[in-house]
Amino acid sequence: MRRKIVAGNWKMNGSKDLARNLVDQVRAETGALDNGVEVVIIPPAIYVSDVVEQAGSSLAVGVQNVGQWQSGAYTGEISADMAKDQGCRYALVGHSERRQLFGETDDVVAAKVERLASCGLTAVVCVGETLDEREAGRAEAVVAAQVKEGLASVGADQWSNIVVAYEPVWAIGTGKTATAEDAQAMHASIRGVLAEIGAPAESISLLYGGSVKADNAAALFAEPDIDGGLIGGASLVAEDFVSICRSMPAGTKS
Ligand code: 13P
Repeated sequence: MRRKIVAGNWKMNGSKDLARNLVDQVRAETGALDNGVEVVIIPPAIYVSDVVEQAGSSLAVGVQNVGQWQSGAYTGEISADMAKDQGCRYALVGHSERRQLFGETDDVVAAKVERLASCGLTAVVCVGETLDEREAGRAEAVVAAQVKEGLASVGADQWSNIVVAYEPVWAIGTGKTATAEDAQAMHASIRGVLAEIGAPAESISLLYGGSVKADNAAALFAEPDIDGGLIGGASLVAEDFVSICRSMPAGTKS
């Protein structure tokens, strides 16, 4: 049985006020959901402790990035251990904005996954192709390489702490979503790659991200290999985010 997850990535948005009010509302309105969805809030690191305080036990909290080192002279970085210490259970790794704007390579992604796995946090490893790569017919190959290289350090007993998020770069923040069929096809392909590298593919949750909104979430989540969503813009509006959480069908994904 796979975890069904809806995670809100606030990116570099938000405030103490949002951390208080939005999280309060999301907790109140998702607490009673009986569809088995795990709701995760991923604020900027500076607001993690505010969100953890408001989240109570019904919402999980994550960070958007961690450094690939254990500790030391890395000004500006936060470590996986620190995120855990503050009450986080999740961390994003290799988001396309990190790859494109901060030069994060698959090797760096693998090192970060290793740090997270060693302290028991769930790594949400983000993969996805650009529009050029899709138009050149290389989408599946690009994503397969990111999955293989990014997960190269995962030990046999660490797979339960791995989640993969497929976020086509051309769909992020653009209002263009992959169709449910295209997203399902890529998720099935990713599951095939996971099996190929010896992972327990059927039990790893795969999330879709890229312009997920209240009006398209249900169609995406209805697909058999889409176990949840990684939500950007719509996670900053409580009503929209709650509505996306409600769109998860009841029953198991397996
Ligand atoms: P949008 O939902 O704003 O397209 O962002 C998706 C994303 O990058 C989540 O990590």
